[in-house]
Amino acid sequence: MGGDDNGDRALLSVRDAEQSAAADLPPDVRDFIAGGSGAEVTLAANRAALELVYLVPRVLNDVSDCTTTAQFLGSGVAMPVAIAPMAYQGMVHADGELGLARAARAAGIPYVAAMLSSCPLEEIAAVGGSTWLQLYWLRDRGLLRDLVRRAQEAGCRGLMLTVDVPKLGSRLRDMRNGFAVPAGAGAANLAAPGNGTAQASMAGAAVPGSSAVATHTAAAFDPSLSWPDIAWLRDQSDLPLVLKGILDPADAHRAADLDIAGLVVSNHGGRQLDGAVPSITALPEVCAAVAGRCEVILDSGIRDGTDVLRALALGASGVLLGRPALWGLARGGEAGASRLLGLLQDELTSAMMLAGCPDVTAAAALRTVSPVAATVDAVARGYSR
Ligand SMILES: Cc1cc2nc3c(=O)[nH]c(=O)nc-3n(C[C@H](O)[C@H](O)[C@H](O)COP(=O)(O)O)c2cc1C
Repeated sequence: MGGDDNGDRALLSVRDAEQSAAADLPPDVRDFIAGGSGAEVTLAANRAALELVYLVPRVLNDVSDCTTTAQFLGSGVAMPVAIAPMAYQGMVHADGELGLARAARAAGIPYVAAMLSSCPLEEIAAVGGSTWLQLYWLRDRGLLRDLVRRAQEAGCRGLMLTVDVPKLGSRLRDMRNGFAVPAGAGAANLAAPGNGTAQASMAGAAVPGSSAVATHTAAAFDPSLSWPDIAWLRDQSDLPLVLKGILDPADAHRAADLDIAGLVVSNHGGRQLDGAVPSITALPEVCAAVAGRCEVILDSGIRDGTDVLRALALGASGVLLGRPALWGLARGGEAGASRLLGLLQDELTSAMMLAGCPDVTAAAALRTVSPVAATVDAVARGYSR
């Protein structure tokens, strides 16, 4: 694990980190991070769809003082990016969640701690940045209530409930690898007295043909989650609530009526329903349905500063950075993650300047063109003549 000088010299873009991180990780851990569900159609579609969003640059707009600062997830941020909740960061590097949370704090962006983190949420919050806690809907409602109380007491800024995992998507790579979370990197927040079994079942021995993560999810997550439960969760604390994993505008419309702080347009990085719509494709309709009632955040496929700008131009207030943050962590722990976030900051600033955007307000007003939509329009116009 960890980068070397040669590797660092080669790291000129966020994407560069992927290959070098892959070389640093055990194959089964690399597959757990990189993989999607089923035939990985949505995993690939996230990238394809982002690349088909063409930005229309503005000119003569004085970008000499270009700033990426924004209001995002309840605080002032250096750029409208937060680290996505990602489980078990202790298996990526010994620095784990603390390393990535420190890098996020140094970069001036929020860190969303996964409920299934390798170290307790109190330690992550003590890093002192803007920490949010992600939750899954557990069968054990008492445990869920306890996590909310702990988040509030630890000074977390908000809660992010993931709503797209009634069961785990079929992660075939993990099943083929008989994947289990390495010992010592399991779900520390669930390892309280009385919950030793939950912890053990994830860190347990690999079973060929099945994923220990899927087995744990089936046992611990409650697929009965539905709309009235959101009110229950809101009533457990004063913390702002964000729902993660919304793609349909009707769901977005209904969610925005629930006095939530925001929602994340996400297909979980292609890890849940294979064949689900790319998040960037779903984003404009969701924004229209929400109509400014809460923040709309995007994740799934963000790989560089231009992608962040694409999301802003299509109506998002910011994005969650997923896998690339783990690539940074893999190659050099906190230092590697810091380097990666610095690159993303540079890329976003560069993209905004080249697009003639002095700030995020100008970025939000940028026009986009999709060659696919343009072709469909042109064909339709041809037919109507
Ligand atoms: C290794 C890994 C672990 C993840 N764990 C969680 C999790 O515990 N909770 C959650 O809501 N999302 C989880 N996600 C999904 C991310 O929050 C995010 O939606 C996704 O990574 C975005 O896609 P991208 O990585 O392609 O940008 C995980 C993703 C990865 C890659």
